[in-house]
Amino acid sequence: VLDEVCETTGVTLKRYMNEVAMLNPELTELTVLFGAIDTACKAITNMVKRSQLPSSETLGYQGEVNIQGEDQKKLDVITNEVLKRALRFTGKMGVLASEEEDVPLDLVNTEKDAIFADTGKYVAVFDPLDGSSNVDAGIPTGTIIGIYDHDENCAMDDESCEGDECAQQELNCLSNTLQAGTNLVAAAYCLYSSSTFFVLTLGAGTYGFTLDENLGEFVLSHPNMKIPETSSIMSFNEANTHMWDEPLQKVVKGWRDGTGKSGQQFSSRYIGSMVGDVHRTLLYGGVFGYPGDTKNVNGKLRLLYEGAPMSFIMEQAGGISTTGTKRVMEIQPEYVHQRVPIIMGSKNDIEEVMEAYAAAE
Ligand code: AHG
Ligand code: MN
Ligand code: MN
Ligand code: MN
Repeated sequence: VLDEVCETTGVTLKRYMNEVAMLNPELTELTVLFGAIDTACKAITNMVKRSQLPSSETLGYQGEVNIQGEDQKKLDVITNEVLKRALRFTGKMGVLASEEEDVPLDLVNTEKDAIFADTGKYVAVFDPLDGSSNVDAGIPTGTIIGIYDHDENCAMDDESCEGDECAQQELNCLSNTLQAGTNLVAAAYCLYSSSTFFVLTLGAGTYGFTLDENLGEFVLSHPNMKIPETSSIMSFNEANTHMWDEPLQKVVKGWRDGTGKSGQQFSSRYIGSMVGDVHRTLLYGGVFGYPGDTKNVNGKLRLLYEGAPMSFIMEQAGGISTTGTKRVMEIQPEYVHQRVPIIMGSKNDIEEVMEAYAAAE
């Protein structure tokens, strides 16, 4: 009977997480988190799909500007609330950091009157709605999440800091969110597109699930994803080409006219939603990037809740993610909303970019 059940329902995300917990008891609390994230992604996909109906209350702008200086969409705000609540009510969270929160939320010290004893075991960093400027045009959007251990022993040496530097240090320390990507214990994204996808890594490969709406469950559809080692798709906002670093301009020119290392003539695919562009890159191969340029030396994407989690997922699928000269996952964040230049994708093509940067040094 089990096989028949398995045949019809497939391996659901819930079953996958139960098996992970049975095989790795130390990850049991982590698998509880993913139960909450599973539900949050289903709630968000419903909101995104219904946001364009005339009766919808969630169309358009919130009328606020977030700390990024972006006009917030109503859905930015609502999806942020959905994720904060979903994570907080697991009772496992120490701190949450979000693109839509000015500063990290410290749940351990502020949830004293909570109805449950908060273990405070994990830190979550997330982008509740990635590509939100596209949402009213029906273009795919996503959610990006990274999970760290909440490390208590935080270096608080208040001899070396002055004034508000101490305040920032205390905030960083309290928040524990400022950890390099190499500390991530898990990373995941949901993609709200032709289907609703859930892609995650726990550090042992990258696994993709597709929402079966008849079941109401994410079902394993892309086990152990591996990005093609070489490709012929570039994915950049090419309006900025003239402001990029010389080495990158040189490599992209070679891809455009078929004179690059692979001799391939590349095509260009860019939807302006990182989750959608990276998902296609993982499946079809390619190079996705938001490089630094003369206007914004660190580019546009945020290290903590876009760059590092997506780099973890990409690396676990056999890809590379670099600034051109540094592995993105090794960058130690200085502050929560720090931006990072990022070029990620198929191994051979990214190596061509890194070689060009090395030759220019
Ligand atoms: P967000 O909607 O979370 O603020 O992120 C938008 C990002 C990312 O999704 C995408 O790759 C990039 O912005 C597109 O930027 P441009 O429109 O400048 O190309
Ligand atoms: Mn935004
Ligand atoms: Mn984003
Ligand atoms: Mn966002």
